[in-house]
Parts: sequence; structure tokens; C-alpha cells
Amino acid sequence: MENFIVSARKYRPATFASVVGQRHITETLRNAISRGQLAHAYLFCGPRGVGKTTCARIFAKAINCTDPQTTTGPDGAAGFEACGRCESCRGFDEGRSFNIHELDAASNNSVEDIRNLTDQVRIPPQVGRYSVYIIDEVHMLSAAAFNAFLKTLEEPPAHAVFILATTEKHKIIPTILSRCQTFDFNRIRVADAVGYMKYIAHTEGVTCDEESLNLIARKADGGMRDALSMFDKAVSFCGAELRYKEVATSLNILDYDTYFDTVDTVLVRRGAGALRPGAGAGFLGPDLYGGAGEPSARPACGSQSGYGGAFRCHGAADGALWRPGGALRGGVSVRRHRAAGRSRLAHPHRHQSAAAGRVGAHEAVHARRTRLGRGR
Ligand SMILES: Nc1ncnc2c1ncn2[C@@H]1O[C@H](COP(=O)(O)OP(=O)(O)O)[C@@H](O)[C@H]1O
Ligand SMILES: [Mg+2]
Ligand SMILES: [Zn+2]
Repeated sequence: MENFIVSARKYRPATFASVVGQRHITETLRNAISRGQLAHAYLFCGPRGVGKTTCARIFAKAINCTDPQTTTGPDGAAGFEACGRCESCRGFDEGRSFNIHELDAASNNSVEDIRNLTDQVRIPPQVGRYSVYIIDEVHMLSAAAFNAFLKTLEEPPAHAVFILATTEKHKIIPTILSRCQTFDFNRIRVADAVGYMKYIAHTEGVTCDEESLNLIARKADGGMRDALSMFDKAVSFCGAELRYKEVATSLNILDYDTYFDTVDTVLVRRGAGALRPGAGAGFLGPDLYGGAGEPSARPACGSQSGYGGAFRCHGAADGALWRPGGALRGGVSVRRHRAAGRSRLAHPHRHQSAAAGRVGAHEAVHARRTRLGRGR
């Protein structure tokens, strides 16, 4: 079988210019390199799959390149990039460089692990100028490990550069934060993710409509890795031609038609029908209902049962569906009153005493108003 590599790995950007949607970071790093103003510790924060590890690797490659180039990116901005040809760059590209060390702090979070790291940091690189230490998920370090790391992080040897990466910046203690230059990565915008997927689709010979890519990008919720994983899954499902309907099915997403059908049904005051199993969007029912198993398991008023009955009788269901739109809420309140009328018949005493209470309260307010009026 052909050696398949997932798109998220195959299309990891290798230059600053090809990183999508993080220009504020790539530009700053490029300028810092070209001015020779490197910090000894960086903190890359942001959600998963937005380019933290990617930028750290590009940075490590660029600062070790023996023949750095000034290139013009796709947006026309000139900047510093690794040449991609020198021995150091080739070492990076082939994954055999000794100038980059990646440590996963999620599984190496003890004081002992940090001691090993600080021992290693003292050894200068045999080739190239800098040893770059990328510590992923750094928020997972134990409190003791953080403290053991402070001294090295504050004053590392001249050849060492630390890049700490985290998805949870708020868990990093202030003493670490103050020793690092912090970069906040953006979530990837839908348009950027679509553009990148279009490029990949074109390179891979996959035809696709814009809607499919939009759907994938929105479901990825700002993560490029997630978007590319979904893209691969959709290609596996649909073949070399991505079509909106099939992509929606493969990703288990409700397509627009279902949403429109549901709202249409509701607008013509057949809200209960929209939720009934088999009415097109039938499987929406349990979600809106609160996901609590079979509808018949819930008590329903009078002769009503199933989704329809539950919908008329229980505030939870209409609360979930109707809260966003005042116009829609109106339609339901009629049913609510009707339901209230029905259940009043079923429990006359309760409603009588409630009504009596209301009358009493009304009289009390009236009496008070009158008293106040007299006082004036
Ligand atoms: N900004 C980006 N531009 C292009 N591709 C990206 C970007 N961010 C992530 N990716 C894709 O997602 C994959 C994982 O990105 P990575 O940098 O490892 O994410 P993380 O932020 O979790 O460290 C990359 O190999 C690349 O394919
Ligand atoms: Mg990472
Ligand atoms: Zn080079």
C-alpha cells in the first residue's frame, strides 16, 4: 500500500510566509531574526492546531540557517527566511537535526525530567549556532518542576532558546510568564482555512465546491489541524469530488436544508410536527428535549404523548427551542395557555387555590395603592 501521510502532516508550512492567519507572529519573528534581537525564551499560546509547533520549528530552522534569505511573501512583505538548501536546513527538513529538541511536558512533568533537560541545555550544539528547546503543553509541568526550571529559563546559556507552547495560558505561573516573550496565536478564520484547503485540494487533484470547504472550516472551529483532518475524512468518504451533501453526511452535520425545513415547519405553527421522529429533522427531538432518552419516558399531559405532547406541556422543550427568537416565542405561548387550560381541568383544586391566591394578592396591592393615594 502507498505510504499515505495525512494532510495535517504533509502540508505543515515550512516557511514563515506559508503560515496562514498568524501574520502578527511570523512578521515579529522574522524581524527579530533579521535584526539579531533574539529573546532566550518565547511562550506560544493559543488553541490546538493553529501553528504553534509549526512556527517554533520554522523559527528554529531560520536561526540556524547558514545562508538566510530575504524573500517576498505572498502578501508582498519582504522578510527573513531559511534558505532550505544549506546543511542545517536539510537536517531540519529530513528530521535529523540535533539543534532542535521537542519535549512533551504532559508526560515529562516531574522535577527529574526538568533536571535532565537543564543538564542537556548546558551542552553547546556541534553544528549550527542555537539549540532550540520546544516544550509543548508546558502548563502540565508540576509546581515543583516549574520552580526547578525558573533559573535556567531566566539565564540560559547563549546558545539555548526556549519555546514554550501551551493551549492554557492561564495555568502558567507569573514567574514563568515574566521570563518569556509571549505570542498569542489566533484561531484560524473560516476564509483562511477554506483558502488553505483549496490549495491542498488543487495540489491533490480533488475537486470541491466552496460550500463543502466552508462547512468543514466552520466545524473545525478555528483549528487548522482539525480542518485538515476533516478534509481527509471527507475525501475518504466522497472520493476525488467533494459535494456538500455528502460532506455534511460524512461529518455528521445538519445541512442548511434541515435547518430551513425545521424553521419553516415551526413558522407555520406546526412546531410539534417538526420535532416528531420521521418529520425530516426528527432526530433533533432528543437534543432539544434535553437528550433525556425516549420521549415516552417523560410524563405527558392528558392524552398527549411523544414529542408533540412533551413539547406542549413542558417548559424545558420550548425554552430550548424558542429562546433566541421573540417572534417564535409568541407561537408557543398560545399552546402553553391551551396546555395550562387542559391541566387546570385535570387539577381543579390546585388551580382554584392558586387563583384564589392571585386574587388575594391583587386585592392587597390595590388596597396598598389606595392607602398611598390617600396619604398623598
Ligand atoms: N497557521 C497555519 N497555517 C497552515 N497550516 C497550519 C496552521 N496551523 C496549523 N496548521 C496545520 O495543522 C498542523 C498542526 O499544526 P501545529 O503547528 O502542530 O499546531 P499546534 O498549534 O497545536 O502546535 C500543521 O502540520 C499544519 O498542517
Ligand atoms: Mg503543538
Ligand atoms: Zn539554510
